[in-house]
Amino acid sequence: MIKKIAVLAGDGIGPEIMAEAIKVLNDLNSQMNLALEFENGLIGGAAYDEYGSPFPQQTIDLVKKSDAILLGAVGGKKWEVLDISVRPEKGLLRLRSTLGLFSNLRPAILYPQLADASSLKPELVSGLDLMIVRELTGGIYFGQPRGIRILENGERQGFNTAVYSESEIRRIGRSAFQIAQKRNKKLCSVDKANVLECTELWRTVMDEISVDYPDVQLSHMYVDNAAMQLVRAPKQFDVIVTSNLFGDVLSDAAAMLTGSIGMLPSASLDANGKGMYEPIHGSAPDIAGKGIANPLATILSAAMMLRYTFNLGEAAERIEKAVNDALDANVRTADIFSEGMTKVSTSEMGDAVVSALQNGAVV
Ligand code: IPM
Ligand code: MG
Repeated sequence: MIKKIAVLAGDGIGPEIMAEAIKVLNDLNSQMNLALEFENGLIGGAAYDEYGSPFPQQTIDLVKKSDAILLGAVGGKKWEVLDISVRPEKGLLRLRSTLGLFSNLRPAILYPQLADASSLKPELVSGLDLMIVRELTGGIYFGQPRGIRILENGERQGFNTAVYSESEIRRIGRSAFQIAQKRNKKLCSVDKANVLECTELWRTVMDEISVDYPDVQLSHMYVDNAAMQLVRAPKQFDVIVTSNLFGDVLSDAAAMLTGSIGMLPSASLDANGKGMYEPIHGSAPDIAGKGIANPLATILSAAMMLRYTFNLGEAAERIEKAVNDALDANVRTADIFSEGMTKVSTSEMGDAVVSALQNGAVV
């Protein structure tokens, strides 16, 4: 059966890194007859420029009829002056909520070849393999009311609402417990239950559902402590489950442990495994168009797509192994470059992965 993939490259470095992921997928597609079919669409600033909306109807139709979505990145200086309702980031947020992609998986894995690129000492991060499960369609990101209002005294006031219903907490909790069951069976739920009622309920519901997963060891941690523990002793974690906002912040911190945010993929899944796959980094406008961005996070996101939406575990592993082989061949984009390595461009890194796919190693 044909597997329809919507390709939304987005802004900044988005098109450059996406081209490499498609290069890799095309190669694998022809080697393994995966029946992948791609259709391009616009999102973010690129969509705003063309249609006046960061998530136009054409793109809504495309993502709805597709089995999976591969996304580059959105945003850039040019669009920062726009009203918040049509900024590029809103396109991404609408995509997540329109498709009900509530479960966001952000793995942070340290490739041994990059231990030196981490900002932490190699012994603290070597062997690091943790998974952040971030709730993606609720919490303060979407809570109403929100806005900027004028008070009676004429002063402006910005306001947002942090809100989680029991059912939202339960479904992300179940996702996380199930992921923990397939890993080392340790789940840490991160909240701010000592201050925020919304997350006090989060903690209560996590405890309630834990009885259904007796094989998983559940612990709780306040978010400030979790931020500290992530940079103090990150290997204590296996799976972390947390809210939309806390997950946004903690996943950037976790990314840096692995050497570069340019290495980390993500999956955003709905209740049926349909998913959107994107690197966790942003559109990096400062380096856009220079051909120096690291395409590996996007290539690894494509591997996650094959695994989670299409159940093609073997194909996913081939991509992951090819990335590993490329690193073994000492090719490095600027963000992960260190003395003695060969510095390569975005497309050369893509070529190195394709070469590894074809030959079992980079030639
Ligand atoms: C992320 C990004 C987005 C978020 C932005 C671009 C809206 O930071 O995916 O982590 O805050 O969720
Ligand atoms: Mg973020």
